[in-house]
Amino acid sequence: MGEKPVEAQGICKSYRSFFRAATTVLKDISLEVEAGEIFGLLGPNGSGKTTLISIFSTLIYPEIGRLHILGLDAHRDRNEIRKLINISTAKPNFPWSLTVKENLRHYGMLYGLYGPALSQTVRDQIDAFELGDFQAMKFEDLSTGLKQRLSLAKAMLNQPRLLFLDEPTTGLDPDISMKTRLLIQRIHEEENISVVLSTHYMPEAEMLCDRIAFLRKGKIVALNTPQNLKNQLGLGEKVTVLYEGSVSIAELERVPGVISVSSVPGRVEMIIDRSMENLDIIVKLFAKARILDIIIKEPDLEDVFIELAR
Ligand SMILES: Nc1ncnc2c1ncn2[C@@H]1O[C@H](COP(=O)(O)OP(=O)(O)OP(=O)(O)O)[C@@H](O)[C@H]1O
Ligand SMILES: [Mg+2]
Repeated sequence: MGEKPVEAQGICKSYRSFFRAATTVLKDISLEVEAGEIFGLLGPNGSGKTTLISIFSTLIYPEIGRLHILGLDAHRDRNEIRKLINISTAKPNFPWSLTVKENLRHYGMLYGLYGPALSQTVRDQIDAFELGDFQAMKFEDLSTGLKQRLSLAKAMLNQPRLLFLDEPTTGLDPDISMKTRLLIQRIHEEENISVVLSTHYMPEAEMLCDRIAFLRKGKIVALNTPQNLKNQLGLGEKVTVLYEGSVSIAELERVPGVISVSSVPGRVEMIIDRSMENLDIIVKLFAKARILDIIIKEPDLEDVFIELAR
């Protein structure tokens, strides 16, 4: 232990093609992932998450920048690094006609396992990921959820110290997504693995990630804990009032700390700064109406995402 799972300084990456000018997809990325952390990569489509994960997992090289993985040089020591890490991606592609068990044995052999050690490791992963009932099923017949689970099981075969997960729950139904998140949490805790994951699901990031880097057009635009990201942006709380009768929207807009107001008849949505203690004033402005419901929602990561992606 000791050394940081990821230490990246000034990483830049562009894709070149013969016909088009080079497009820069990562610009000056610097970040450090601490040992034992689950680190999240968030950002809109095309912001560079998969490219960054591919660089961190030594699959592609940045043309500029310094990168150390588990204290090893990403370029010079990549063979050593690859023994210590593993990766699972959203749309796993395994040999289609091999069964779950055959696939795990196949990958196990690629990681240098053989004989009783191979059989034991494969059995352990089948148990850990509850694949026992499906071990004789061919990859091509597996549901999306089972493919993801097999992919996670494969990623654990070499007992990695650092795991990269690119959208581990994309395409899964809510129930299976939650099971997968709990599984990720469990292997993170039990095996003391550091994890770098990308996701489009904010509840997933809130539940799993200790810290999050938010990418936009290949740059890090924010990096912090989920809670600090919310505080940092000073996002107000959303207050929705359902009412009958009439209320002056203009007067609501003038209340100190009311950041924005949008309304349709019978419904007003306001973003307010609660530290202004203005709820009382707002409610009084509804004196001529009959309030049917008031819903107050704290800002969540979804709001942070929308704000940062703008
Ligand atoms: N092999 C490639 N050749 C050229 N351009 C590429 C290549 N791979 C990715 N890109 C471009 O790099 C940019 C970043 O893509 P990347 O897949 O890293 O984004 P992402 O954040 O993972 O997106 P998503 O959320 O959709 O998965 C995009 O503009 C993409 O079109
Ligand atoms: Mg991606």
